Amino acid sequence: MCAKTTCKQQKSKVKKLEAEIERLQHVEVELKRSLQFTESLLSAVPIPVFFKDAEGRYLGCNKAFTEIIGVTPEEIKGKKVYELWPNEHAEMYHQKDIEVMHDIEHQTYEFVVKDKNGTDRSVIFSKDVFLDEKGKVNGLVGSFVDISERKRAEEKLRESEAFLKELNETLEDRVKERVKELNCLYRISALGYKPHASPAENIQGIVNLIPPAWQYPDVTCSRIILEGEEFRTLNFKETPWRQSCEIILNHEQIGLVEVFYLKEMPERDEGPFIAEERLLVEAIAEHVSRNVERHRSEESIKLLSGELIRIQESERHRISRDLHDKVAQDLASLKIAIETLFRDTPAIARSQTLRVPKILQILEESIRSVRKISYDLHPAGLDEMGIAVALEMLCNEYSEHHAIDIGFHSAGIEKLKIDSNTQINLYRIVQEGLNNICRHAEARNVRIKLVAAYPNIILRMEDDGKGFEIERRMRETVLEKRMGLMSMRERAHLLGGRARITSKKGQGTKVVIKIPFAKK
Ligand SMILES: Nc1ncnc2c1ncn2[C@@H]1O[C@H](COP(=O)(O)OP(=O)(O)OP(=O)(O)O)[C@@H](O)[C@H]1O
Ligand SMILES: [Mg+2]
Repeated sequence: MCAKTTCKQQKSKVKKLEAEIERLQHVEVELKRSLQFTESLLSAVPIPVFFKDAEGRYLGCNKAFTEIIGVTPEEIKGKKVYELWPNEHAEMYHQKDIEVMHDIEHQTYEFVVKDKNGTDRSVIFSKDVFLDEKGKVNGLVGSFVDISERKRAEEKLRESEAFLKELNETLEDRVKERVKELNCLYRISALGYKPHASPAENIQGIVNLIPPAWQYPDVTCSRIILEGEEFRTLNFKETPWRQSCEIILNHEQIGLVEVFYLKEMPERDEGPFIAEERLLVEAIAEHVSRNVERHRSEESIKLLSGELIRIQESERHRISRDLHDKVAQDLASLKIAIETLFRDTPAIARSQTLRVPKILQILEESIRSVRKISYDLHPAGLDEMGIAVALEMLCNEYSEHHAIDIGFHSAGIEKLKIDSNTQINLYRIVQEGLNNICRHAEARNVRIKLVAAYPNIILRMEDDGKGFEIERRMRETVLEKRMGLMSMRERAHLLGGRARITSKKGQGTKVVIKIPFAKK
């Protein structure tokens, strides 16, 4: 019984064992298949993958890892990071392995790996742990993505950004410099050319505009020497850091523009100065030269027109004298001769003598006309009666012939000894002013004042007529060859004075002439 039972039990055990063996064989086949699948999967993945045990020893790696890093799974198996990689890399790998196995959390970080050529490549590591059946960390699986290309591109981008920034800053600096220079030239030309002012009057302004246009305004000073006269900025001092340009007119040096740095500055194109500053200093010298040239031409035109006015006046005077002293006298003698012609010859036919009064009347009119023309050409006795009286007479004459109320007032003039040149020119100015009022102004009232206000004689003519646009009319009168206003100005300049004409449409016209008399 006992032996029978034991035999049965053993048979059952064998059966169980056989079933277990079969099951295990089945599991082994499954495992092999799964392992093979995993190996194929890992080998097919193009990203390098590695795995380590819980102590951080490599268990293996895939094909991509071997291709990039140059080590086979057999070579790394069982090795720790310190045995394979340079210390500075191994240290980081080790730290990160401990961290991921402790935190049991997916981990990514950027670091480097040494490739099979010994070159450091930037990569992003990605690691995860795997656990045993009890949930304990059994090891880790890691992979990395090569970002060297991206890094290089980023670096290039950073470099070109930095380059662009630098370029931008340099460009900005250069633009700022150019703007400064242009400002300087603009301001110099905006100083304007003042007709009748000597170039010297402009030069101080130009000198002061130079330093702000140079690279280092705070340490810049300048000087312009023109026809022996010197103009300097307040901080002027001669130093070894100098830039200059001669002022040339008609192949002759008439001056010099100089710029100095008060202290040593970095070397540039021309000592511490840049090429553009050379162009600027030349442009300034050229500007000054052109101003001098213009001033010289203006001076000669002024001289010429002054001379013309003088010649015209003396010719008028001569013709006026000839007309008065000769023609008018001859006509008067002729009148007397005709009056007495038939006195002693009664035999002359009455029809003939009847024509005499008619002839005498014509002669009388001719004498009056000649005297008037003579007076108009040159007011006789201007020197004797004085300008104030002559002008009063002139105003009365115009008042009589035109429906305009002309008020004349003078003060302090009688006491002055005014030379005949000044008198005749003042007379002509008023004459032209009154002509204009009668011809163009449609005025009702005119006020003329001649006042001696030391050191000037001031002549003021004001009408309440329709006025005119001075700028526009002055431009037009040049083409229309009208000379009145221009000759008023010329005469004022000839006397060393100034003429100021102001007018507005509908608001009358005012002419003010100021001439110095103390200097005479
Ligand atoms: N007092 C004034 N009122 C209104 N317009 C005036 C007056 N004076 C001058 N003008 C205007 O200015 C212009 C120029 O005057 P200007 O004396 O130079 O020339 P003109 O009188 O026309 O000719 P000219 O004097 O050569 O015989 C005139 O044509 C006129 O339009
Ligand atoms: Mg006129």
